Amino acid sequence: MSDDRLLAASRVDEDVQYEAGLRPRTLDEYIGQERIRENLHVSITAAKQRGEALDHVLLYGPPGLGKTTLATVIANELGVAIRPTAGPVIEKAGDLAAMLTNLQAREVLFIDEIHRMAPAIEEILYPAMEDYELDIMIGQGPGARSVKVPVQRFTLVGATTRTGLLTSPLRARFGIVHRLDYYTELDIYEIVRRSARILGVEIEPDAATDIARRSRGTPRVANRLLRRVRDYAQVRADGRISVDVARRALKLLEVDEHGFDEVDRRLLRTIIDKFSGGPVGVASLAAAMSEERDALEDIYEPFLIQIGFLDRTPRGRVATPRAYEYFGLPAPGKDRLW
Ligand code: ADE
Repeated sequence: MSDDRLLAASRVDEDVQYEAGLRPRTLDEYIGQERIRENLHVSITAAKQRGEALDHVLLYGPPGLGKTTLATVIANELGVAIRPTAGPVIEKAGDLAAMLTNLQAREVLFIDEIHRMAPAIEEILYPAMEDYELDIMIGQGPGARSVKVPVQRFTLVGATTRTGLLTSPLRARFGIVHRLDYYTELDIYEIVRRSARILGVEIEPDAATDIARRSRGTPRVANRLLRRVRDYAQVRADGRISVDVARRALKLLEVDEHGFDEVDRRLLRTIIDKFSGGPVGVASLAAAMSEERDALEDIYEPFLIQIGFLDRTPRGRVATPRAYEYFGLPAPGKDRLW
């Protein structure tokens, strides 16, 4: 079987059902991202003490790291409802205007993939975020006029993979901006133990470590692997996830030792095979791989750089000796001839 879907950080249908149950509800339950947690705790506590809406929050970073989870946690901590939507699903300006005017005071409007909003729709947000009012145009031509409609003081939580994808007027309207980073192996280990507890499955500590190591620093991947290993434990063993069961399950699933998916491997192989290990510019790399440049920069490169398989140099991307080692290839020496 292919491990593409298993290790992809993007959300698939099955995740939706499970993530709801495994998701932490409060900052206390949330594991990892210490700095963000502490900053949010201060901001949320202060807003609550003043009885005000929390400043608008922008969360950015690779998929699967908990942007939606954090948005839910923020609403829970504020003790208000969260109204979720996503940039690509808002089709008409009127849809967004309706959502905004329906908000109660201090509620959270969560817009996932906020960079994918149409420009005309995005403009509705500016006065709403800044002055808590909408500028609605009535009519067309010479008789057209604009009316201002007030909205309650709300908090917009926006999520995106990279702030650079946002227009600057939108970015400038967020008072609180946080970048989520890949989790440490220890954080993922704790998340696996917590999820196992919630799922009611016994897991040996070393088995949790094995899963954590293959989860590319991404809770969504860790929880997905845990569910597959739990299936294996149930069908092929006594239901408990021992180290031995975990190893056998991960082997059967053909999960990569580093949690690489097909694109990770292809990215490294392309640099090594087609560009002699680099340096190669990201545009050439994206073209050679038939992938979108944004996806390479926002999703694949950060992880490969973090674990030391890829270097970003001023002249372009370079595959490191560890990347060669991974494919069982001799690393080119300093005296290489090409
Ligand atoms: N499940 C998914 N992400 C989590 C996190 N950051 N903390 C605890 N449980 C999680």
